[in-house]
Amino acid sequence: MKEETLKNKVAVITGASHGLGRAVAERLAAAGAQVVLIARRDEPLNEAAESIRAAGGAAAVYPCDVADSAQVLETASAIQAAYRKVDILVNNAGIPAPRTFEGTDISAWDEVIAVNLSGVFYLTRALWSSLCAADSAYVINISGTAGLRGGGSPAYGGSKFGLTGLNHAIAQAGKAHNIRSTILYPGGMDTGWRGAPIGELPRSESMDPQAVATMIAQLAASPAEFVVNEAVLNPLNHPFM
Ligand SMILES: NC(=O)c1ccc[n+]([C@@H]2O[C@H](COP(=O)([O-])OP(=O)(O)OC[C@H]3O[C@@H](n4cnc5c(N)ncnc54)[C@H](OP(=O)(O)O)[C@@H]3O)[C@@H](O)[C@H]2O)c1
Repeated sequence: MKEETLKNKVAVITGASHGLGRAVAERLAAAGAQVVLIARRDEPLNEAAESIRAAGGAAAVYPCDVADSAQVLETASAIQAAYRKVDILVNNAGIPAPRTFEGTDISAWDEVIAVNLSGVFYLTRALWSSLCAADSAYVINISGTAGLRGGGSPAYGGSKFGLTGLNHAIAQAGKAHNIRSTILYPGGMDTGWRGAPIGELPRSESMDPQAVATMIAQLAASPAEFVVNEAVLNPLNHPFM
C-alpha cells in the first residue's frame, strides 16, 4: 500500500502541465494531496490532470497566465472558493530568456520578469489568506542556478535573483503564520527546456525532473519543526562547485 504522506493537503502548482511542474503535481498527488494545476493552455493542463486521475489522484485545473495580475486574482478567488485552505504552493512556472544583454529588448525583459518574478508575487500574495488558513503551509519557489550565479541573460538572471529576495520576504512574513518557504536552485533538467530534445543527455549532465519532483514531495512532507531555506540541486557532472 502506498504511503499517503500528504493526505488531506491541498497543493497548488504553477507550470503544472509540463516538465518539472507536471512531475511535481504527479508526485504530490501520488502522496495523497489534492492537486490544483495552473498553466496557460487548457489542453496540456487537462491532459496532465486526466493522467493524475487515471493513476488514482485528485486533480483540478485552473488555466491562468501567472503574469497577468487580473487573471491571478480571479484564479485565486476561484481556488479559495473551492478549497478552505492551501497547504502547499509550488511556484514553478518559468520561461527562458534571451541569453545576452544586447540580445534582450525591453519586451523580452518585461515578459520574463512578469512570469518568473511578478507571477510568483501575484499568486503567493493572492493565496496568502488560504496559506495562513492551513495548519502549517509550505511555499516552494523554483529558481535555478542562474539565481545564484547570474550568467549572460539579464532577464533570466534578474528574475531568478529577484526571486531570492521575494523568497526571503515570504519566509519572513510566513513566520507569524507557521508558513515555511524554500527556494530551490536546480541546474539543468531534462524537460525540453529551450526546445532541447528530451532523453539525449546522460543523467550526469541533465537531471530527471521526476527525481527532482521526488525530492520536492519529500520536502513538502517534511516535519514542520524545521525548514530547508534553500537548496542547490545539480547533475553530478555539473561544474558548480
Ligand atoms: N529545465 C531546466 O533545465 C531548468 C533549470 C533550472 C531551473 N528551471 C526552472 O524550473 C521551472 C520549470 O522549468 P521546466 O523546464 O519544467 O519548464 P517547461 O517544461 O518549459 O514547462 C513550463 C510550464 O510552465 C507553464 N507556463 C509558462 N508560462 C506560464 C505563465 N505565464 N503562466 C502560467 N504557466 C506558465 C507552461 O505551460 P503553458 O505554456 O501552457 O503556460 C508549462 O506547464 C522554471 O521556473 C525554470 O526557470 C528549469
